[in-house]
Amino acid sequence: MDGVKGYPEDWDPELIIPRWHGAEPAPERPIRFRCSFELDKPVVGAQLWITACGVFEAEINGEVVGDHVLAPGWTSYKHRHRLIHHDVATMLTAGPNAIGITVAEGWYRGRLGFGGGVREVYGTEIGPVALLAVTHPDGSHTRIATDQAWRAQPSPILTAGLYDGETWDGSIVESSWSTAGTDDTDWTPVDAIPFPGNTLFVPASPPIRRMDVIDPVSIEAREPGRTVVDFGQNIAGRLRLRIPAAPGEIVTIRHAEVLEHGEPAFRPLRGAAATDTVVCGDDAVEWEPRFTIHGFRYADIEGWPGQPAAEDFHAIVCHTDMEELGTFECSNPLLNRLHENVRWSARGNLVDIPTDCPQRDERLGWTGDMQVFADTAFFLFDCASMIESWLEDLAAEQIELGVVPIYVPWVELVIPPLPMAAWGDAAVIVPWRLYQHFGNPAVLDRQYDSMCSWVDQLAELSGDDRLWRPGLQFGDWLDPIAPPDRPASGRTSPELVATAYQVYSTGLLAAVAAEIGKEEDAARYSALAAEIRVAFNREFVTPSGLLASDSQTAYALALQFDLLLSPEHRTRAGERLRDLVEREGYHIGTGFVGTPLVCDALADTGYVDDAYHLLLQTENPSWLYPVTMGATTIWERWDSMLPDGSVNPGEMTSFNHYALGAVASFLHRRVAGLGPAAPGYTRLAVRPLPGGGLTHAGASRRLPTGTARVRWHRSGDVFRLNIEVPDGVAADVEMPDGSPMRELGPGAYELTCRFRPATADPPRPAPPFPPPA
Ligand code: BGC
Repeated sequence: MDGVKGYPEDWDPELIIPRWHGAEPAPERPIRFRCSFELDKPVVGAQLWITACGVFEAEINGEVVGDHVLAPGWTSYKHRHRLIHHDVATMLTAGPNAIGITVAEGWYRGRLGFGGGVREVYGTEIGPVALLAVTHPDGSHTRIATDQAWRAQPSPILTAGLYDGETWDGSIVESSWSTAGTDDTDWTPVDAIPFPGNTLFVPASPPIRRMDVIDPVSIEAREPGRTVVDFGQNIAGRLRLRIPAAPGEIVTIRHAEVLEHGEPAFRPLRGAAATDTVVCGDDAVEWEPRFTIHGFRYADIEGWPGQPAAEDFHAIVCHTDMEELGTFECSNPLLNRLHENVRWSARGNLVDIPTDCPQRDERLGWTGDMQVFADTAFFLFDCASMIESWLEDLAAEQIELGVVPIYVPWVELVIPPLPMAAWGDAAVIVPWRLYQHFGNPAVLDRQYDSMCSWVDQLAELSGDDRLWRPGLQFGDWLDPIAPPDRPASGRTSPELVATAYQVYSTGLLAAVAAEIGKEEDAARYSALAAEIRVAFNREFVTPSGLLASDSQTAYALALQFDLLLSPEHRTRAGERLRDLVEREGYHIGTGFVGTPLVCDALADTGYVDDAYHLLLQTENPSWLYPVTMGATTIWERWDSMLPDGSVNPGEMTSFNHYALGAVASFLHRRVAGLGPAAPGYTRLAVRPLPGGGLTHAGASRRLPTGTARVRWHRSGDVFRLNIEVPDGVAADVEMPDGSPMRELGPGAYELTCRFRPATADPPRPAPPFPPPA
């Protein structure tokens, strides 16, 4: 990873843009910029600080600089614009040198968002901003910066769009364009415009990189000239092709996540063309698009010259370069595949920002999605610095808009910036989860004002009775009974969801304040949380402990957010939740809000078997239904693909959305039994939960001093638990026989106890769904 290296303070950054004579190239066409220069002394060091209005790739003397994909990534550019640092000493020599930079629209000027989207969100002109500082043996420096000496030209890439794909003309490429020998006298001059240096920062977070290469699992010829390649895994990334020499032939590649009745389904992509096109040249080439990314498992290829062979196609997986920290495995292959799908959806959506999906005309940093998935993501991947960067954008947008927006970076589309429960709460919950999983309190300090503004704003909106009666809300988004075209119309009242979240976030903020030594704030927010909790009970809880919304999500919220005032009500809520789940045939009845909580709520109130029945259900809707339908990622909807193999008619139907995969946190913490008991896993909470017919389960999480491991086996009524506790870490262990908690220090242990499940292991056959009235 590149270290953070500040740029020289005396540099006044300038953006360069072409001064076209005559017709300008189409806006979707990338532009390449170059500058040749002479170094009259040897080189002992060279630093390049570079960014663009747009996305860029730099070359020095014909070689690509670094391995970043879609640099500088997407931040809220008007507040924070990344300046990428590369050490390029080995790429330069005394004598003639050249630097070239290709810039495409990317997020800066390209189309963003659904419903036709918007263009030019950040500006109308694209171009690079760069400083190359070369150090010579005598300590002197040569500086080359983007200025009027540079020249520009349209790129041989004819179009490049994040959603629409890339078109490349192989017949007009000349590889030497970024070398000193190139004659650029007929290139276009540029204007240099002062760039707001106060927005520039050198990032601490890793870039997007090419993280994996996948070979095809099948290549099927369709009608003449058409081939469908299956990579066996839904990913975010792009293809690398070995294209034969075939002057003038045109190859078209469309990307799709699933087959619908045997044919690639493009409808879920909505307004994203997701199509790459290559005009073949005189020579065979290896080609990969550079300024686009697709969400796909299948490639539909037309016009391939000759016979396509498996070796001609590779899928390149692209996402933020983050270390994988956590694992999970158990004796049930369907659960293992579910977990694998969660992993792949995290990889498909932790792509510089936490996105909702990687394939359609959206790919926005939806706050609610990250909020519900945070625990799972942070157990599995070291995405801390990436998410911290996103949170800084969240805070910057919040200051500008006066509210935490529903996605970050903010783009004005159809919904204005409004406070949305469970989405805006990301401002409080995500930093707290980061702290729990990575243990660095700096994120709490940095985000504190943002957290307070969110909670204070809700307190103001809710007035004296402490009840926030919000307007437009997403509620328990994508409750399985919500009609395909009305995903917010679930069975749980949006007001109940909003007040529940308000109690939760306000309470967390009190904990944050206490953690960072703001005692007065801690007392104030905890008193406020208590008041809202009372209001919640007054408004939404009947005297006998039923809830105003008789839904899995409402009870899961009440239980897991600790909203109920009396232990009797808690007992009642657990019973009622169990009854509902049973009555609904052990089919999931939750959307984004209830999904991360419902299994915990059942298990914590003593209904472990019911939690397992729900978890192991394979009929629609359930977590395992998509697995039985061959899913390789988590779907946006419980039934993104219907049982008859057709794609859900809703226009919002992705096959790679991580939110409903938030149940993986339950797999880690409870099924296997490994979670944090103190920030940064300095104490482990080891609470394995045998059941569901599982004979073994295990999880591991890499920590700074080693790997924490938990693995249990059950044979008959003997339960055996193996634990590895790294140095400097303690473990609180709760065995499933209910024996008192044990505290263990670093080391490896084997513990046993008697364990007999309360009911027969295999899930009961499910009654019909929906249940008879
Ligand atoms: C996104 C979601 C998001 C939701 C909220 C959808 O279009 O894909 O995941 O949270 O909108 O409205």
